[in-house]
Amino acid sequence: MHRREFIVRGAAAGAGAIALSRCGGSSPGTPTSAAAAAVPGSSLNAIPGHMDTRFTRLVGCRLPIQNAGMGGVGSAELAVAVARAGGLGMVPSNIEAPQGEGVVGVNFLVPDGYDLDAIAAAAKTARVVEFFYAGPEREPVTAAHDAGALVSWQVGSRDEARAAVDAGCDLIVAQGIEAGGHVRGKERLDVLLPQVRKVVGETPVVAAGGIATAERVAALMQAGADAVRVGTRFVVAPECDAHPGYVKALLAARGAQDTALTEQFNEGWPNAPHRVLASALRAAKKKGWHRVTPPSSRVAGPVDFMALYAGEGVGDVRRVEPAADIVKDLMRLLA
Ligand SMILES: Cc1cc2nc3c(=O)[nH]c(=O)nc-3n(C[C@H](O)[C@H](O)[C@H](O)COP(=O)(O)O)c2cc1C
Repeated sequence: MHRREFIVRGAAAGAGAIALSRCGGSSPGTPTSAAAAAVPGSSLNAIPGHMDTRFTRLVGCRLPIQNAGMGGVGSAELAVAVARAGGLGMVPSNIEAPQGEGVVGVNFLVPDGYDLDAIAAAAKTARVVEFFYAGPEREPVTAAHDAGALVSWQVGSRDEARAAVDAGCDLIVAQGIEAGGHVRGKERLDVLLPQVRKVVGETPVVAAGGIATAERVAALMQAGADAVRVGTRFVVAPECDAHPGYVKALLAARGAQDTALTEQFNEGWPNAPHRVLASALRAAKKKGWHRVTPPSSRVAGPVDFMALYAGEGVGDVRRVEPAADIVKDLMRLLA
């Protein structure tokens, strides 16, 4: 076993280049599915812009980043753009995984049960099938594995992370309370990440929640993450299907103080805290609006009272820019 290193450029103020040791040994996780065993890991080092982490080795993409598969506003175009840029491009489960250049995955929200046929169908074409919002269970994991995909589960606690590994997951997403959208845990990412890292062994860990700058990406990679998962910053990419009013509201937000964790948008999905823009929460309370779905570009009329999901990093979401540029910017301190 040998230790891998990669370089973080200027990650700390005034620092020229920081050598970043990977946490623990660096053998590439232990893939549990047939798909995992097929990753051409060694040849990836030759690809320009490739960064070697447990995540990139296992998934087979060049860069340690994925977009969140965002129900209601995610799109095939966004997944393709992220995948082409070198990351893992994700779609929500109502959209078929786009085929072509790059590595793509499908996200299933499973707060109260799952459709094994849909999971198996997605797993036939997607490299990664991923679950969120329920305690990890073996049955959907096995269904996705049997159909040939890697399986990931987004968790909010150390116990859930352990359960995800026990259920057979190949990847774990550790989601901090800073995250936009539905929030599973109660810990901040800096507290949760080392806890998760400790209990999952060599399983790749993806850090999520409030990540919107290259500096934050570099710090999390240094703290033991194998990749990052970003939602809010990609909502403003033109490839995303978010309503222009939603994009405008995100760009106007100043930071964490303009977000709120609430259970207001709970129609059909109770007892599930979610982080939104505080302005949307105020407007929704006035109007009595509770729908869960964020506004897509097809929604007519004002959207200021709708579920405008936003993470605490929203203050660093400053302009509309192509998803590829967002990937490039977030990865710029890693080499
Ligand atoms: C608009 C939006 C929709 C989301 N929808 C989903 C979803 O369908 N499935 C899921 O697993 N997570 C969803 N999330 C949460 C993300 O998986 C992730 O935890 C979060 O985006 C990370 O925080 P950030 O938004 O601050 O980057 C959503 C997040 C946002 C912002």
